[in-house]
Amino acid sequence: MTVLEAIQKSADFLAKKGVESARLQAELLLAHQLGQPRMKLYLNFDRVLTADETDGLRELVKRRGNREPLQHITGSTSFQGHEIGVSRHALVPRPETELLAELGCEFLRATQAPTPTALDFGTGTGCIAITLAAKCPGASITALDLSPDALALARQNALKNLVAERIQFCLGDGFCALKSAAAINVSPRQFDLIISNPPYIASAEIETLEPEVKDFDPRAALDGGPDGLGFYRRLAAEAPEFLRPGGKIMVEFGDGQADAIKTIFENGKWIVESIQEDYSQRARILIASR
Ligand SMILES: C[S@@+](CC[C@H](N)C(=O)[O-])C[C@H]1O[C@@H](n2cnc3c(N)ncnc32)[C@H](O)[C@@H]1O
Repeated sequence: MTVLEAIQKSADFLAKKGVESARLQAELLLAHQLGQPRMKLYLNFDRVLTADETDGLRELVKRRGNREPLQHITGSTSFQGHEIGVSRHALVPRPETELLAELGCEFLRATQAPTPTALDFGTGTGCIAITLAAKCPGASITALDLSPDALALARQNALKNLVAERIQFCLGDGFCALKSAAAINVSPRQFDLIISNPPYIASAEIETLEPEVKDFDPRAALDGGPDGLGFYRRLAAEAPEFLRPGGKIMVEFGDGQADAIKTIFENGKWIVESIQEDYSQRARILIASR
């Protein structure tokens, strides 16, 4: 079978399984199998695959046909130019979160603090914390998560991206992670920036999501409680104690949640400075201060 035939056959199979952008996915899987950039496939359409390559591709395509996310199969994704390892233990980083990380970087770079500090609440793979550490070399970053496995993955990712010594990792339930015995040496206790992409799907909605999400992203990374807004209530109520004067909170949220979240923060005596849209013009990020 040639490269082109393998792509066509895999794409047909994936399309039948309901996978979106089946041709692109087939090309990415073959590129991964061959260990080369996707564009190189276009120069070698007539090359005949070896038996091992064909067998390897068949396995990958089967997994993707079972709706396992491409990033779980390839083992990583790109986030703000950083290679981030991905597994079942943490949410696959989404493109819209890159904007959140970018806004966080802009704010940290603009603060007058000699060593700006940031807390990534619910760090998952560590994608936001790693971006902040890499793009704001003077800043001190703390990352917390409830999941020990996610935190271990975030640590690995920080090591791989050469920023591990710039990030303190704290395990625990929300801000309690900063107060735990294990975090006794964690400093600072207050931050210029609290940044979070918390779980925000209403519990009952999770079953209606695409298989890639509901069957492969960890439930703890998705479930925002009965109305999906539980973490925003916690953040609005608990974050003030951890925010330095002049600091900001930046949170990502889901489609249709902007008004409810704005109300939650305003009721908690926050000044909502802006609601930012993502790359597809959907309200996605709230920025607030005290
Ligand atoms: C939506 S994911 C975001 C992950 C990552 N920041 C990103 O943007 O890709 C939310 C993260 O919050 C963590 N989490 C859930 N409940 C938590 C809690 N009570 N305290 C701390 N972290 C929590 C989950 O384990 C998950 O890693």
